[in-house]
Amino acid sequence: MDAIGISAERADFFKSLTEKSDGGKLRGDYTLADAQYVVAQDWAAYTPEQHALWRRLYQRQAKLLPGRACDVFMDSLAKMDAADGIPNFARTSDLLFKTTGWRLVAVPGLVPDHTFFEHLAHRRFPVTVWLREPHEFDYIVEPDVFHDFFGHVPLLFNPIFAGHLQQYGQGGLKALQLDGLPYLARLYWYTVEFGLIRSPQGLRAYGAGILSSGGEIGYCLTDPTPRRIPFEVERVMRTRYKIDSYQETYFVIDSFEQLFKDTAPDFSPIYARLKQMEPLPADSLLPGEIDLPAAGRHAS
Ligand code: PHE
Ligand code: FE
Repeated sequence: MDAIGISAERADFFKSLTEKSDGGKLRGDYTLADAQYVVAQDWAAYTPEQHALWRRLYQRQAKLLPGRACDVFMDSLAKMDAADGIPNFARTSDLLFKTTGWRLVAVPGLVPDHTFFEHLAHRRFPVTVWLREPHEFDYIVEPDVFHDFFGHVPLLFNPIFAGHLQQYGQGGLKALQLDGLPYLARLYWYTVEFGLIRSPQGLRAYGAGILSSGGEIGYCLTDPTPRRIPFEVERVMRTRYKIDSYQETYFVIDSFEQLFKDTAPDFSPIYARLKQMEPLPADSLLPGEIDLPAAGRHAS
């Protein structure tokens, strides 16, 4: 499992940052961060052992991707040329900027919600600089450079997804004003982190939490246990999620165009409605909902 509690944890972490005098609870080094929490990557400081660990993580995932990751992810990852060691963000950032106008910025770890949304709204994706330790090969609680870079950056090369994430950043700033953050966080969780997408060849993963995980990438597609339900914005925003286990439900989009279009309307009335309702447990199935069958067993 590398279920990573991105949105929920970001909030928790920031609480610990502001409430505890010994900011030492945070894993990254925040002392050199600027007002936007940006640091220098200091690529030369990574050790040969860290580059070797990256290669092991990369190779394990690369083997699992064919037939499981969506095509956009596969194609972009190949272009990023990141197999040989922890990548130099500046190089990928330049390539990305030419493709979709996004840049990568290095951060010490989780950043406050407002800062995170500001970055996205300006087409900057924050990438954590530190790499997990060898004993965290299979499971990591906080996002590290492997999750952030390998899991998230490839889709930023797709113009529609890239546009969606910028809109999400703007929507996040708005949600902060409207007390809508818990709902928006669920949307992020069930799409950007744990989303599935249909393809002519069958179900595929596009969520970064899945694609950077050695276990969940198989589980989410072929295990009979979890639900796979067609994506619907308000339904997703009502649904709780698990941050310390594989997901009990995955929501399935038909295309990134659908994700972009369905999230375009003003969320204010949705937030207002959801505040009057109880959230749904993570394993709910509502009347009339289809629980899509698991994909057939993968050949390899
Ligand atoms: N349409 C959303 C709003 O009005 C903003 C948003 C767009 C949120 C895309 C998420 C993704 O708040
Ligand atoms: Fe993430």
